[in-house]
Amino acid sequence: MTVSIHDLRAWKSEGTRWTMLTAYDFPTAQILDAAGVPVLLVGDSVGRNVLGYANELPVTMEEILHHTRAVSRGVERAMVVGDMPFMSFQASIDDGVRNAGRLIKEGGAHAVKLEGAQFDLVHRLVDIGIPVMAHIGLTPQSVYGLGGYKVQGRGEAAAKVLDQAHALEKAGAFSIVLEAMPSELGADITKELAIPTIGIGAGNATDAQVLVINDLLGLNEKVPKLAKKYVDLRSVISSAVEAFVEDVRSGAFPDEEHSYS
Ligand code: KIV
Repeated sequence: MTVSIHDLRAWKSEGTRWTMLTAYDFPTAQILDAAGVPVLLVGDSVGRNVLGYANELPVTMEEILHHTRAVSRGVERAMVVGDMPFMSFQASIDDGVRNAGRLIKEGGAHAVKLEGAQFDLVHRLVDIGIPVMAHIGLTPQSVYGLGGYKVQGRGEAAAKVLDQAHALEKAGAFSIVLEAMPSELGADITKELAIPTIGIGAGNATDAQVLVINDLLGLNEKVPKLAKKYVDLRSVISSAVEAFVEDVRSGAFPDEEHSYS
């Protein structure tokens, strides 16, 4: 059975902490699903991590759909959340409804994520049966408006972030990503909301934690402060490729084991 929004709610009540990871392709989705990760996010971070863009802003609906379809094909149990890219919902509620519908209908996602204080759109989507994961704090689609990738909600700004969290819960969001904010604020929001909070750089008290898979696996040269590299796959891949190149140069590959008679 696919993980549902009710499972996530129940885990919050029980105090069971869980994880979300980004996934952008079929084999990674299979591995994460089999490893028991309950929620996979096809994030617009695909832009920087896979497509070579400088930031999230150029990512299109067609690109997110392409990757969401691949991830959806790779899961048996995990909930797949499709991220709404920049300008797929900001111009009008109708745009948001149409594009969220595409992520579910064409992408095979079970829910959508959208950034910012989009209370009316969240309400409308939930009304038509599309589960919405909200995202506040540092919202990368507003990187220019925020003046860079900066921690949000410090000092007096905390109250505004807390109010947004309450309003998004009231609008019907089933969960909320809290990105790059003081740990104390992450803890306060988690305590005050009935829906699960998913932290990334929001301290240790949130109900769940999310990481970008490329950061966790060490595929990127640099990892931001809010992420942890659990393995250095960049070096592992590099060594494997160098060994192959050397084997071909020396004539060691293909050997008999890898040749047909
Ligand atoms: O796009 C993304 O990967 C995200 C997560 C960092 C929450 O929004």
